[in-house]
Amino acid sequence: MTAIEILGLEKTYNVGFWRKRPKCALRPLHMQVEEGEIFGFLGPNGAGKTTTLKLLMGLVFPTSGSARILGMETHDPRMRAQIGFLPEQPYFYDYLTARELLEYYAGLSGVPAKERSRRSQEMLERVGLHDAGGLQLRKFSKGMLQRVGIAQAILHEPKVVFFDEPMSGLDPMGRREVRDLMDQLRQEGKTVFFSTHILSDAEALCDRVAIIHLGELRGIGSVADLTSSAQNRVELIWQGPSVPSSLRALGAEPHIAGSTVRATLLEANQDAAIEALRRERLRLISVVPVRASLEDYFVQKLKPTEAVAGGRQ
Ligand SMILES: Nc1ncnc2c1ncn2[C@@H]1O[C@H](COP(=O)(O)OP(=O)(O)O)[C@@H](O)[C@H]1O
Ligand SMILES: [Mg+2]
Repeated sequence: MTAIEILGLEKTYNVGFWRKRPKCALRPLHMQVEEGEIFGFLGPNGAGKTTTLKLLMGLVFPTSGSARILGMETHDPRMRAQIGFLPEQPYFYDYLTARELLEYYAGLSGVPAKERSRRSQEMLERVGLHDAGGLQLRKFSKGMLQRVGIAQAILHEPKVVFFDEPMSGLDPMGRREVRDLMDQLRQEGKTVFFSTHILSDAEALCDRVAIIHLGELRGIGSVADLTSSAQNRVELIWQGPSVPSSLRALGAEPHIAGSTVRATLLEANQDAAIEALRRERLRLISVVPVRASLEDYFVQKLKPTEAVAGGRQ
């Protein structure tokens, strides 16, 4: 079943002193996210990610278009009970403890009073904050606050969760923990939709990604599909450091590191290259197809309007 259905969602803000200058933050966007997916919404700063999430959460009104989550309109209160949301840079009242905050949110999302305390403790454990439940939030680091935000978003066991830049400001360990948590949510059958400008986080985690730039969808698909369209090239690694001249003639550009050599060449020349190495009695270590990284794809997709992106928006 489709978890999120976006039907031509579009947002123009009116900016300037008299609010007369239209600023298009999101061009009509059409896309779908299936139930059980981890979906990455990628784009550089100012691309329109937060705007899209706010539209989906019903926090701002669309200029046109609509969206459905689990088949329900975004303003349907029944839908609200089924979703969780971590805003970008969540702000919480400094003098509450983590436990108080979670119990408060549990109340807001309709968790029965006698279950709130147990559920809050469970969530604190889940995001690795079991020792910090009694601490006031003003004493929390950025990473701890982000985890409280995540706990708040999943507290009421929503079916679909939306995270806006969940890894921002976290150190590598913290990023890893958030990634593992999202992976766990998927294993529980939940749908996870998150935005990020950090590509490696998406590459390691997502079933599918969409790339958005200047309010426009530039590409959508599985990470494997987006990156496998590479180049028909293979990478050969062998025990060096010698490089047969016949290999250079096949177009290989070798990089020598210590006693190993790595070179990429066209797949069509693979057999000839292996043969050349054998003739020279060089030991082949590996042959692997070259895949473009998601970053290559991303950079390529952002290119055409780079001139516009560089100017004032
Ligand atoms: N409330 C607002 N009023 C005017 N312009 C806005 C508002 N919110 C966002 N924008 C503009 O819309 C564009 C997209 O912003 P945003 O959705 O926050 O991007 P992202 O989350 O991808 O960084 C940016 O150019 C931003 O300046
Ligand atoms: Mg944003």
